[in-house]
Amino acid sequence: MQVHLVDHPLAAARLTTMRDKHTGNAAFRAALSDLTQMLVYEALADAPVDAIGIETPIKACAGTRLAAPPLFVPVLRAGLGMVEQAHAMVPEAFVGFVGVARDEATAKPVPYLESLPDDLAGQPVFVLDPMLATGGSMLHTLDLLVARGATDITVLCVVAAPQGVATLENSGYPLRLFVGAVDEGLDEASYIVPGLGDAGDRQFGPR
Ligand code: PRP
Ligand code: URA
Repeated sequence: MQVHLVDHPLAAARLTTMRDKHTGNAAFRAALSDLTQMLVYEALADAPVDAIGIETPIKACAGTRLAAPPLFVPVLRAGLGMVEQAHAMVPEAFVGFVGVARDEATAKPVPYLESLPDDLAGQPVFVLDPMLATGGSMLHTLDLLVARGATDITVLCVVAAPQGVATLENSGYPLRLFVGAVDEGLDEASYIVPGLGDAGDRQFGPR
């Protein structure tokens, strides 16, 4: 698996805002949206393009467009805060949805929604979830994607724990991970340390 740390002063500033426990819901969502823009920008840096011809008001000119726009897959709830910005950057992309919530006692993923195209062969897929803790929720999502034939999968996260990165490594799936920070580890409740708390609650309130 390729791991890309998106280590930029602007990304670090938004991540600081998200980590700060005094940051309110609206400012948290705004910082997540900004950081998503940076993650998507970095993850598409090497995307193949098709040449197209256009005309400027002055003369004919060569242009480009993405050869294969990705399918964005936000993992509900917290990934919802990333999809609007990702879609704004690639308006021609399609969007699928996966819903999974951790059992608070066991930290195991409990799936409750999948809304994805049946055939993902040849389709670049970008999974959006701010948090990669144990990696259980992401592994569930990846299993759904691979079962549909996906072989070109990019995971975009804000904060990861080393345990979550290892879960993805051990999956054996060919993946790219773009992440804002890899933190120290997990606490006894499987929250990322220092992390930023519960990314779903901090956007939308407690469930
Ligand atoms: C969070 C987060 C990830 C998951 C990460 O979702 O958005 O999906 O936890 O933890 P893991 O790597 O240990 O699986 P949560 O289950 O809190 O649901 P929510 O987004 O609805 O709040
Ligand atoms: N989910 C979150 O939202 N935060 C964590 O630290 C771990 C899982």
